[in-house]
This record gives sequence, C-alpha cells and structure tokens, in this order.
Amino acid sequence: MTVHKIAVIAGDGIGPEVIAEGVKVLNKVAELDGSFQFEFTYFPWGCEYYKETGRMMAEDGMETLSKFDAIFLGAVGAPGVPDHISLWDLLLIIRKQFDQYINLRPVKLLKGAPCPLKDVPAEDIDMTFIRENTEGEYAGSGSWLFKGKPNEVVIQDGVFSRTGCERVIRYAYELAKKEGKSLTSISKANALNYSMVFWDQIFAEVGRDYPEVKTYSYLVDAASMFMVKDPKRFEIVVTSNLFGDILTDLGAAIAGGMGLAAGANLNPERKFPSMFEPIHGSAPDIAGQGKANPLATVWSASQLLDFFGHEDWGKRLIDCIEEVLTDEKVLTPDLGGTATTQEVGDEIIKKLS
Ligand code: NAD
Ligand code: IPM
Ligand code: MN
Repeated sequence: MTVHKIAVIAGDGIGPEVIAEGVKVLNKVAELDGSFQFEFTYFPWGCEYYKETGRMMAEDGMETLSKFDAIFLGAVGAPGVPDHISLWDLLLIIRKQFDQYINLRPVKLLKGAPCPLKDVPAEDIDMTFIRENTEGEYAGSGSWLFKGKPNEVVIQDGVFSRTGCERVIRYAYELAKKEGKSLTSISKANALNYSMVFWDQIFAEVGRDYPEVKTYSYLVDAASMFMVKDPKRFEIVVTSNLFGDILTDLGAAIAGGMGLAAGANLNPERKFPSMFEPIHGSAPDIAGQGKANPLATVWSASQLLDFFGHEDWGKRLIDCIEEVLTDEKVLTPDLGGTATTQEVGDEIIKKLS
C-alpha cells in the first residue's frame, strides 16, 4: 500500500471549509482505489496562530513541512493581520523556499459552468497557465527610504534570473510539445526595458530547441483583451509571477468564477514537496457561512492526484465536477444555487461512488 503523506494548512476564512471537502474527496478516492492511501497531518498555521504567537507558522515549520510528500493549502489572510505579513510568512515563503517554480493553473470552462462572455463555445476556453512562481515581481527585493518623511522613497525590484526564466519557459515548451499545443508567452518588453526584454530573449532562445512548437508572444495588455475577446487563441501560456497572478483571476472570471479556479505549485524535481491550493483567497465576506464553493479545492485535489501518478483519478474528479455543474442541482450561491459547501462535497462523493 502506497501512503501519500500530506501536510494540511487549512488557513483562514473559508480555507478550513473548502479544505474539509477536499480531504473528504481524496480519502474517498483512496478508499475506492484500494492501492494507495493518504495520511493527513493538520497544521494550525495562519492568522489566528499569528495573533496568538506572533508567527504565521512554527519556527521549524519549513523543516517540518519538508518531510511531507505534498502540502494541501486552503487560504491565507484575515482582517487584522497585514496581508504582506500573512502571505509572505506562510504562502509565499513556502513557494520560494521549496522552489515551487511552476504555478500550474488550468483555465478551462467546464460544461455547465457559467461564462460571462457572449457567444463563446465552452471548448474555446481551454488554457493552461504556467506562471513563474519564485521570483520576478515577487522577489521581495527593495527598500523603503526615509520612511514617514516628506522625501520618502520606495523601491520594489523585479528580479529575473537566467536560471529562473529558462526553467519555467522550458517547462512550458515541454508541456506544449507533449500535448501538441501552441505556446504563448505573455510579457511587456515595450515598457519593462530590462526584465521583459530579457524574458522575450529567453523565450526565443529556449524555443530553438522546440521547432515543432507553434509560439505566440503577446504584450500583457493586449493579452488581457484577447482573453476576453478571443480566448481560443490561448492553449499553453507562460508568463511572469505578477502577470500570471492577475491573468489567472481574469481566467477564473471567464471560466466559472473564483469558486472553480485551481492551482498547483510544483517543484518538478521533487526535491521539495509541492503545494496544491485553490487560487482564491480567504473570502472574509462569506467565511463561516457554509457558502464557499469547494470545487476549486476539489480541482486542486485532482491536480494532486495527477502529481502522484493517479491521472485516471484526477480525470475522474474533473468529470465529477462537470457532472455536478451540468446537473445544476447542488451548487453554492456563487453558481446560482442554494447548497452548502458540505453538500457540494457530498455530491462529489456520490458521483465518485
Ligand atoms: P478572495 O479570493 O478571497 O475573494 C474575492 C471574491 O470572490 C469575494 O467576493 C469572495 O466571496 C469570492 N470567492 C472567493 N472564493 C470563493 C469560493 N470558493 N466560493 C465562493 N466565492 C468565493 O480575494 P480577496 O477578497 O481579494 O482577498 C481576501 C483575503 O485573501 C486577503 O487577505 C488576500 O490577501 C487573501 N488571498 C489569499 C490567497 C491565498 O491564500 N492563496 C489568494 C488570494 C487572496
Ligand atoms: C494567488 C494569490 C497570491 C499571489 C497572494 C495571496 C500573495 O493572489 O495565489 O494568486 O499573488 O500569488
Ligand atoms: Mn491571485
């Protein structure tokens, strides 16, 4: 029996509500399969923990997490704790220190999911975003000079290393080659005259090793417009950390909403655990009311199954999500229903069984 050891950080707001459903679904999959099981270990880290201890995670938290096969994370952030502290000291530090340089975010309109775009067939929205996840605009490098004085100056550096750019771009080319799809790079070299010129140069350089991959390169402003006006242009997409963050929320908006948007933070070499999470936040506006849609978390559970080589189950989970959507019977309010978070989780289990 294979045992997958998973560290669970449910976090804040709706995090614990959606994670409970994700865990339930993964346990059901393991039970039905019979050849593997999950061992979940829960860590109470997040904003409540911060209010009690002054830390977002235990002092030896990273060391503890490094022993696990994967991390399953809900959401981080709560009123009363500055976001730049809560997110940097938990979510972002894990992505960086575990070198989870691939942020794989599917933007796929499932059958039955709502789409605000007019006259767009579901199959036209089927993209995979590969977002750089460890550096770029999120490098955390900068300074705040003369703080509070009239002459104060703030500098936030973008850090784009050759290694950092090459590895994410190569990963995207490999995926495009494997799936026989086109690859689009999204950057902004007309204005960002160092970082994005460098990015574009590396995109072209690495591309020489993949003559069979059809490529496109868009400026981020035009790309946002095309995602809305003509989304079928995009298949595999590679972009920087900040652009990927923004464009995948736009992606969520055209592919069913935040309640359906999933992401995997991968360390492809498997030297460190990878982390699976819905891309939405802690949604304080609906937390504790059983209104949160758990389907994004179930989708990230599907990515976790793929990562462990259970692609058949990963695919099965996506099919179950699609069945729940097309049934239109058990849906949370964001999708126009009246069901609770837990009821949607139960419905997935019913479809699996
Ligand atoms: P958010 O994603 O939490 O919420 C945006 C909107 O989407 C809200 O109206 C919310 O109710 C809705 N929503 C989000 N997830 C939903 C779900 N599963 N079901 C139904 N509706 C859902 O973004 P925000 O309001 O900008 O941020 C809130 C907090 O979360 C902040 O502290 C922010 O820093 C943090 N945040 C954390 C993560 C993360 O942990 N990965 C991601 C984004 C934001
Ligand atoms: C996401 C989130 C995070 C990010 C925040 C919470 C730091 O928005 O995962 O998309 O910007 O990466
Ligand atoms: Mn985001």
